[in-house]
Amino acid sequence: MNILLTAGPTYEPMDPVRFIGNRSTGKMGYALADAFAAAGHTVTLVSGPAALPVPTHPAIQTVRVETAAQMYAAAAEAAPTAQIWVFAAAVADYRPAEVAPEKIKKAGDTLTLTLVKNVDIAATLGETKRAEQFSVGFALETNNEQAHALEKLRRKNFDVVVLNSLRDAGAGFGHDTNKVTLLTADGVVTTSDLLPKSAVAQDIVQFVLARYAQYA
Ligand code: CTP
Ligand code: CA
Repeated sequence: MNILLTAGPTYEPMDPVRFIGNRSTGKMGYALADAFAAAGHTVTLVSGPAALPVPTHPAIQTVRVETAAQMYAAAAEAAPTAQIWVFAAAVADYRPAEVAPEKIKKAGDTLTLTLVKNVDIAATLGETKRAEQFSVGFALETNNEQAHALEKLRRKNFDVVVLNSLRDAGAGFGHDTNKVTLLTADGVVTTSDLLPKSAVAQDIVQFVLARYAQYA
């Protein structure tokens, strides 16, 4: 199968030398790309600026992007021919309304930036999802975690949502280990152990492939 996978942060420029970004390392997304490739599938990895080596597996094609708009364009190109979509990227929700053509010079004591909303890649592609396609999203929540994750599943037309909890020490951003809860529209809830991200990725891939075989 063809897998579309978004990963890493996005960087939203404010001038030629500065951007707004986030702390996503891309590790979980890259581990998922490796796990899908190891399971015999072809992966289009649309990656924001992660400080990770480009995967060397010949079944992984990596497309490097910077901004949410670029990530959307690359994902939209790969989506129609992919059976499974996985949205592991930490996409910036907003970008500076204007990108200054020259470096913004230090002036007053405060600086006010106006931000505008970025395209929601998962939700926009979710509207085009065909019956035989399968969409997997991620959610990182700090409160009412499962309720928020299920709300995202419905809003973005996901078949599976992977919930990252910040409550577990050693899980999430920047760590080499992770612990996730997998939720489906029909109420299946499965929690992984705290494991290296590569092992968690294999568990997620096995779960997604089994669900895909059953429902898509
Ligand atoms: N996502 C996306 N495009 C965006 C924002 C999010 O594709 N512009 C995807 C993420 O890759 C993830 C899922 O949507 O799979 C949920 O991301 P999240 O940031 O938790 O959702 P938001 O709708 O942005 O909600 P929040 O207000 O909690 O940030
Ligand atoms: Ca968000």
